[in-house]
Amino acid sequence: MPPVAERSLDVRADFPILARRFGERKLVYLDSAATAQKPAVVIEAVADYLRNHNANVHRGVYALAREADAAYDGARVRVAAFTGAEVDTTIFTKNVTEAINLVAYSWGRANLRAGDAVLITQMEHHANIVPWQVLCRERQATLRYLEVDERGELSLQQLEDELARGDVRLVAFTHISNVLGTINPVQEMTARVRAAGAVSLIDGAQAVPHMPVDVPSIGADFYAWTGHKALGPTGIGVLHGRREILEAMPPFLTGGDMISSVDFQSATWNELPAKFEAGTPMVAEAVGLGVAVDYLSELGMERLRAHERALAAHMLERLPQVPGLRVVGPPEAERRGGLASFTLDGIHPHDVAELADRGGVCIRAGHHCAQPLMRCLGVGATARASVGVYNEPEDIDALVDALISGREVFGLR
Ligand SMILES: Cc1ncc(COP(=O)(O)O)c(C=O)c1O
Repeated sequence: MPPVAERSLDVRADFPILARRFGERKLVYLDSAATAQKPAVVIEAVADYLRNHNANVHRGVYALAREADAAYDGARVRVAAFTGAEVDTTIFTKNVTEAINLVAYSWGRANLRAGDAVLITQMEHHANIVPWQVLCRERQATLRYLEVDERGELSLQQLEDELARGDVRLVAFTHISNVLGTINPVQEMTARVRAAGAVSLIDGAQAVPHMPVDVPSIGADFYAWTGHKALGPTGIGVLHGRREILEAMPPFLTGGDMISSVDFQSATWNELPAKFEAGTPMVAEAVGLGVAVDYLSELGMERLRAHERALAAHMLERLPQVPGLRVVGPPEAERRGGLASFTLDGIHPHDVAELADRGGVCIRAGHHCAQPLMRCLGVGATARASVGVYNEPEDIDALVDALISGREVFGLR
């Protein structure tokens, strides 16, 4: 078989789950924003690690333990290379939620004082809201929000105005909204945050799997993402941090592996990244993520983005052909990731997802862990279709067909 890069982006055969059938219907998976399906190489790498190389890491001196060390440390090298980040400042966490909590607990509790402010946006996932709410309440700091305009975008002017107030210590924002699909101007935002002397954190959960992301050129102090949306296993996430900030931060969790030495009353901390990885880490999961990012690199992230942008354009064209359907977020495919949230007049989003399922199409319905944004949009929930590298235009057509015939079930013409 030729290497992935020489093939067209017809990779469905690489994903065993896509061969599944539900009765007569093939699986049409349009829920990659929730979690991505896994290519066989990832599944096999995890199984091979557990079957042939499993040992605890950074402890054993025997040959098998050295293999486990090499597998885990090698995964970090692959993951750091994928986003252009430094190896030592690439920390493995359980998921992006834990990565953001790490920053909120460690950086936040060491640096935020009464009267300070944290600035986030109305389009954040709960993972990038609740840790800041808890932190601000504890430190008597204020939590403020950048607004989302009617196009589903943020205003750089409002960011500047907020920073000019002089009390903002940290600005946290998503790279791509998991509801609106909006791609935020992250470089322009981090530059302004840095110029104001504040710290920036980007939630890259919906970006890293879908477009080229070079962490150093984005210029964020923290950049976090999650492995299971990037074709990797669940239980593994990534926090990239600026070295001097990470070095000055106290540990988040404490215990084995993150120490340099322990006395009866006190301990000293290990070097980066171990300082932030207490206890036995997610070794098999890291190995799987390392293989997943190599698979993505081989496909080529520019190519993958072009494929998904074309699918986004197809969604924006086809979905509104369903009578009563309204897509939220920017109207242009180039300004958004490969997802579309929508409402359908007269049918609750959960029923919309159920109708899609009758046509064999998996989509998500609900508040997408973004309840404040739902309030801004004036809805309780939306339905959401989201694509991955393995989708094709026919998958979106299948959704549109299912929705059009579904409307008839509801007596809508
Ligand atoms: C933008 C965004 N941030 C954070 C998360 C949380 O990801 P995880 O549950 O893997 O921590 C998600 C997942 O849906 C997301 O879309």
